[in-house]
Amino acid sequence: MSSQIDHLLDESRQFPPSDEFAASAVAKPDLYERAAADRDGFWGDQARELLHWHTPFTRVLDWSTPPFAKWFDDGELNVAYNCLDRHVEAGNGDRVALLWEGEPGDERRITYAELTDEVKRVANVLESFGVGAGDRVAIYLPMIPEAVASMLAVARLGAIHSVVFGGFSAESLRSRIDDAGAKVVITADGGYRKGKVSPLKPAVDQALSDDRFGEQQTVEHVLVVKRGENEVDWVEGRDVWWHDVVPAASAEHVAEPFPAENPLFILYTSGTTGKPKGILHTSGGYLTQAAYTHRNVFDLKPESDVYWCTADIGWITGHSYVTYGPLANGATQVLYEGTPDTPHPGRWWEIIQKYGVSIFYTAPTAIRSFMKTGRAIPQKFDLSSIRVLGSVGEPINPEAWMWYREVIGSGSAPIVDTWWQTETGAIMVSPLPGVTATKPGSAQVPLPGISIDVVDESGEEVGNGNGGLLVITEPWPSMLRGIWGDPERYKETYWEKFEKQGYYFAGDGARLDADGDLWLLGRVDDVMNVSGHRLSTAEIESSLVAHEATAEAAVVGASDETTGQAVVAFVIIKESYLAAHDPAGLATQLRSWVGEQIGAIARPRDVYIVGELPKTRSGKIMRRLLRDVAEGREVGDTTTLADTAVMSIISAQVK
Ligand code: PRX
Repeated sequence: MSSQIDHLLDESRQFPPSDEFAASAVAKPDLYERAAADRDGFWGDQARELLHWHTPFTRVLDWSTPPFAKWFDDGELNVAYNCLDRHVEAGNGDRVALLWEGEPGDERRITYAELTDEVKRVANVLESFGVGAGDRVAIYLPMIPEAVASMLAVARLGAIHSVVFGGFSAESLRSRIDDAGAKVVITADGGYRKGKVSPLKPAVDQALSDDRFGEQQTVEHVLVVKRGENEVDWVEGRDVWWHDVVPAASAEHVAEPFPAENPLFILYTSGTTGKPKGILHTSGGYLTQAAYTHRNVFDLKPESDVYWCTADIGWITGHSYVTYGPLANGATQVLYEGTPDTPHPGRWWEIIQKYGVSIFYTAPTAIRSFMKTGRAIPQKFDLSSIRVLGSVGEPINPEAWMWYREVIGSGSAPIVDTWWQTETGAIMVSPLPGVTATKPGSAQVPLPGISIDVVDESGEEVGNGNGGLLVITEPWPSMLRGIWGDPERYKETYWEKFEKQGYYFAGDGARLDADGDLWLLGRVDDVMNVSGHRLSTAEIESSLVAHEATAEAAVVGASDETTGQAVVAFVIIKESYLAAHDPAGLATQLRSWVGEQIGAIARPRDVYIVGELPKTRSGKIMRRLLRDVAEGREVGDTTTLADTAVMSIISAQVK
């Protein structure tokens, strides 16, 4: 790792903005000065400039009971009104909001006026199901316009959505539905992935009926969009087809104002324990920062740009940069249902050409996999409309950064490498196009209004040229307001480590280079980052030990050329199991087991069956040593192991 870091920090290429770009850029250098002079005043200005407040706020930040922040506390707004109705009222109803492209090639263009009507109808349907302010609605949908409409309809009612990524299993869905106590689930029969229909409704049925968890108590209705045309089971009285009720519902619906701190959504993410955390976000502060970052970081000109973020709405990137940021700003955006290489490996580039995408936001994993298949594929398409490129989810290596700029960005588009988290709600660290001279591989600088530092274990600043832990030193508008149902875990996870200083601990390692630019170095806890998706080692381990064959399991994130990290599992099999079963094919079985239990993204790349695991005398598994094995390196210091011979046995078994 350290030689890799040194190599990264040797990076000295810089790409200043062209004069032409700078002259017409949305962000101006004085943003930094304004924010530094009066942070609260700066955020108050953003909130007033970017959003419509039914009741103006008089207070920007209440930080009297840290770590529980309140932003724009006495103001009232309606999030959906801000994303829809006000654009129609301002005369932009005919502007296209969504340029939707289905994987099989079907398309829909939906204007702001049409989307507003649709959301009003869905809100009326949800109201008829008894959904009101504070109620929870689970959303388990493919990337279709109904997904965005559902989120906004829930928001319009002051209710709380919990979007569950369509790739998650029935079991993961059930635990999220139960934790949030969802009253309604919105799903589809299925959606297109990799050229065929991938069913969703059966997972909902299974989640709601699985007797391993006892009787499901809270879900009263399941609203089902017809998309895949696959056959589905039906529970009379509970299940309702979208096409039966939404078009028939009234398109009149008044958006009531709600307090700025009204909860907007819960989004589950992996932590260091087996149980995913329900990250809670609220309305006014979240929407302010989503809109502010979307406008300034992507240099958005809503009248002329065509924006495309490839994230699924099941992740925070899809929440902030597909649904809320772009729609609050009145942007026109592409929404694509399928996989990047279906039906051909140039599908994404074809979409950029077809719609004239000018701002493109994706993850380094995708860029690296396109690099592998070669530049000839994107070069078959006209990508000249691209003027800003974004990256998110994991560190982008300088090679991938340069390829992205040269091949996708015609050698001139600025790249914004954006660092943030589910918990931060919106972008925190990023260059500003037209202002910052970009540097391949570095996320660079905190945005105006955001305070970030790199500190050592005791909370002291490390200073330029040194590495340490990334902390956020001041509250920010889109910060999480807690973990659903678990305020103690919120304090412990993020605030206990630097309690004295009152810093938020992000869980990431980082370094400051000689210029003071930030280089993200990956997680410092037991959270892995696979293709930009957060996975917990503990969650996968507990899934592995839930299999009848497994006695013990240890999981590590090993570096992987394409996916950043890959899940590698070391498993001890029960003797009783081996006595009765043939172990052939067991590793494959365990891989699929994890896929079924959690979801395909969690499926280990490798499962090694071993006789022992490296443990300290107090019984703690030394994952660091397993990572050495998984990455094919010489095994590090083993002196603290209870049995120092164990690593050579494991290495031999893995070979
Ligand atoms: O480790 C950091 C990494 O992704 C983590 C957050 O994951 P999640 O909550 O799923 O949100 C991903 C999308 C915002 C962070 O703790 N990460 C995110 N962006 C970057 C990054 N690492 C390096 N560079 C980034 N630009």
